[in-house]
Amino acid sequence: MNDRAGLTDTACAYREILDHTNDAIIILQGEHTVWANKPARKYFAATEWTEAKEIFLPHFLKKQDLMKLQNIIHHVISYGQKESVATIRLPVIIPDGTVIQSEIHIHPFTFHHTPLVQLTIRDIGDIKNAELNLMQSEKLSVIGELSAGILHEIRNPLTSIKGFLQLMQKDPVPDKNYIEIILNEVNHIENIATGLLNFTKPQPEHFVKLELGSILKNTLFLFETHAVRKHISFDVIGDGDAHLILGDKTQMKQVFINLIKNAIDAIDDDGKISISLISADSREIIKISDSGKGMPSTIITKLGKSFFTTKVSGTGLGLMVTFKIINNHNGKVSIESKENRGTTFTLTFPCYSVARP
Ligand SMILES: Nc1ncnc2c1ncn2[C@@H]1O[C@H](COP(=O)(O)OP(=O)(O)O)[C@@H](O)[C@H]1O
Ligand SMILES: [Mg+2]
Repeated sequence: MNDRAGLTDTACAYREILDHTNDAIIILQGEHTVWANKPARKYFAATEWTEAKEIFLPHFLKKQDLMKLQNIIHHVISYGQKESVATIRLPVIIPDGTVIQSEIHIHPFTFHHTPLVQLTIRDIGDIKNAELNLMQSEKLSVIGELSAGILHEIRNPLTSIKGFLQLMQKDPVPDKNYIEIILNEVNHIENIATGLLNFTKPQPEHFVKLELGSILKNTLFLFETHAVRKHISFDVIGDGDAHLILGDKTQMKQVFINLIKNAIDAIDDDGKISISLISADSREIIKISDSGKGMPSTIITKLGKSFFTTKVSGTGLGLMVTFKIINNHNGKVSIESKENRGTTFTLTFPCYSVARP
């Protein structure tokens, strides 16, 4: 790349256009930044940036994020075709310490026989906030729908506590076992209340090591009453191993809740929901199958579109939020469905040892 003095009028015009886009554009040659448009220069400290002077690959990324970006660049260059573009969401830190949630497009190209990579960085802070707000309201709406069942889960131990307290009231020397049972029931209620509070509280996104089996276990109780009432049995198939991924606990719970809720809704009465966790090829695979009414292909193509629902009181937001969360976790989802036979949602995530920061 040349200095402005060496540029043709057309090149100057292009440069002018690029300087006045909203997105930040950075051109890399190997590990060096060889050009950045005006919006991109805020990522560099003033002393660091002089046009045409080479500087080392952006230190506006955290070390582990920089490694992720380098891996993707390497992957795109090695395996991609000419026009290939990859996208990654990463927090970018500007010199005053502000963190900007960003989406980075990576596009390799060749200029005068020199291989270069274009990074286009878009500030998605507002989009991300809107997504989190949507997730939050969808979360509250599904919990609202399940509330009757949850209250039932709390009322059952309360009834048992009351019964044992009445026995103890009559008995001059109460049985120690009663106290044990009462304490267990109180713990059960406490666990439900804590789980619900943690789930419904708006939380900033926080990626940690997660064990899918225990998240699933902590989610299933929400559906017990619903399932019993509709004669639905749950079959959880695991190999007993830990299924670890890098993820946000509340968001993963939301995924399980939405998919299991849909599976229950798809079964009129009497049926089965099988959930299996499998580790294979550095991936964690979750399969959720129901014996419900299934879907024709015309519906499958609409899944995940906002407000698409076939239910009288549906929101049509569950799958949209679910797919966003899966995407956010670098996961994939596939759907198989047969009318009157049932549906299987298969989710695949990179295992923790691959995804870890
Ligand atoms: N397991 C399933 N079996 C049959 N249909 C399903 C299943 N999961 C989702 N669907 C269909 O997808 C639609 C959208 O689901 P979702 O986004 O969760 O919204 P909602 O549950 O509020 O309708 C549902 O209305 C239903 O028609
Ligand atoms: Mg739903």
